[in-house]
Amino acid sequence: MTTQNPGLFIAFEGGDGAGKSTQAAALAGALESRGFAVLRTREPGGTPIGEKLRSLVLDHGHGHIDARTEALIFAASRAAHGDQVILPALERGDIVLTDRYIDSSVAYQGAGRELGTVAVRELNEWATGGLQPDLTVLLDVDPAEGRLRRTAGDAAEDRLESEADEFHAKIRTAFLDLAADRPDRYLVLPAHLPVTELTALILARVDALIRSRQSFRQVSRHGVAL
Ligand code: TYD
Repeated sequence: MTTQNPGLFIAFEGGDGAGKSTQAAALAGALESRGFAVLRTREPGGTPIGEKLRSLVLDHGHGHIDARTEALIFAASRAAHGDQVILPALERGDIVLTDRYIDSSVAYQGAGRELGTVAVRELNEWATGGLQPDLTVLLDVDPAEGRLRRTAGDAAEDRLESEADEFHAKIRTAFLDLAADRPDRYLVLPAHLPVTELTALILARVDALIRSRQSFRQVSRHGVAL
């Protein structure tokens, strides 16, 4: 579906504490300094209704949330995000960087909550009308290392983060399986590499993608030849 619009859609995925936000910010900065129009966004959230759904599903204190309800809340947030934010930006010719997308639901709800990866993928393809990233950057993190990184400085863990390491191990395997199925659409990197090294590797892959998309270079509003 993304091939029908002029923009470029890049998702960052990985376990909690992988450093996705840091890398998305670094990539956005590098692309903006070359003149590209970049939209940075995140899931769950990214729209007013999505931010409300985010707090419903992540905050402690809403009582028990069963797995199907959880999956539907993430999918509802994503439907609004795709329709109101991602697709319009891609139609403008922007580079969209999202912190998490469908693969997070497939990994966390499909594998982690054991709803089934196929069922959760189908739910989300329906929710988004089949809108897929051109590239997914998967930052692969060991669950124990991820927990150490995200609790550094006494940061509180949300509902999903506070699940046991076994839950996070299932998620890690599910992400790696998704990437193995479509190597052309994924860049898998070990999250423990130095931050600047990760940024350079991601930028190199994105540069190659931009070069391969002649149509993108022609329509990007501020794009410069690479
Ligand atoms: P995230 O915003 O990445 O957490 P943080 O800002 O604390 O790094 O994601 C919030 C949590 O929601 C994270 O544990 C992963 C989970 N999640 C799902 O379970 N399914 C989904 O579809 C998404 C988008 C996130």
